[in-house]
Amino acid sequence: MKQTQITLIQKESIAPAWWHLTMTAPDLADRLIPGQFLLVRCADLFSCYLRRPIFPSPMGNDCLSLRLRPDPDPGMAWLLSRQIGDVLDVIGPLGKGFPLPQEKRNILLISDGFRLDPLLGQMNHALSENLSVTLALGGSRAANLYPLNSLPSAVEFQAATLDGSLGHRGLVTDLLPDLLVWADVVYATGSTSLYHSLKIQTERVRFGLVKDFLYGLLSPPLHPCGVGSCLACSLETAAGLKLICLDGPVFDLSEIGNND
Ligand code: FES
Repeated sequence: MKQTQITLIQKESIAPAWWHLTMTAPDLADRLIPGQFLLVRCADLFSCYLRRPIFPSPMGNDCLSLRLRPDPDPGMAWLLSRQIGDVLDVIGPLGKGFPLPQEKRNILLISDGFRLDPLLGQMNHALSENLSVTLALGGSRAANLYPLNSLPSAVEFQAATLDGSLGHRGLVTDLLPDLLVWADVVYATGSTSLYHSLKIQTERVRFGLVKDFLYGLLSPPLHPCGVGSCLACSLETAAGLKLICLDGPVFDLSEIGNND
């Protein structure tokens, strides 16, 4: 973990509600594991605001990739307003990311939220190992989902939208019974209710939730320190109290209580 600077070298709109930022980060790109985070100073030098956690994914050539949506949070809005050539002050990588799939064939990536870079990082790794990948995304309507045309053709894409404008009409968790039969390991980002459904349905479909099957990224909107000093991110688990910034933000969900 170190404080360093990264430079925005590309910024493109990939859909009406999605931006893709590419940053050169020679000190970080080969060390950052999908699911780990950086604390970025989202303001000019003298600011009272806390750094914001961002979850980029490595994309080769010493670069990091970050997908963002317009956000009412002033810090994230500041970040999205950066232009090519701007330099960002970051601390990281912090926390523990998603483990690489070991001796798995079928990889399920699932989200009902907008923090997708950790899943897309896992996707790239799995494809490089010739593994089968399904990405299941849920949202209120098609326009809110990550754009399908940005995905490699080797990935099977499944969608669920509340208004039925793309894929299944309903929640992405409605797709779980079939997907959980197929998957050898699941990586998830999103809401607490998604993690809760994943655990309940895994126990139903696979007759139990075993270790090393279901991983989720748990992260509060802010990590005041990011290094285990402030205790603001404590989490009760089967193995006792954990700190999300040090022991997570990726957890094996078999070790997390249903209320988390
Ligand atoms: S953010 Fe301070 S202890 Fe985790």
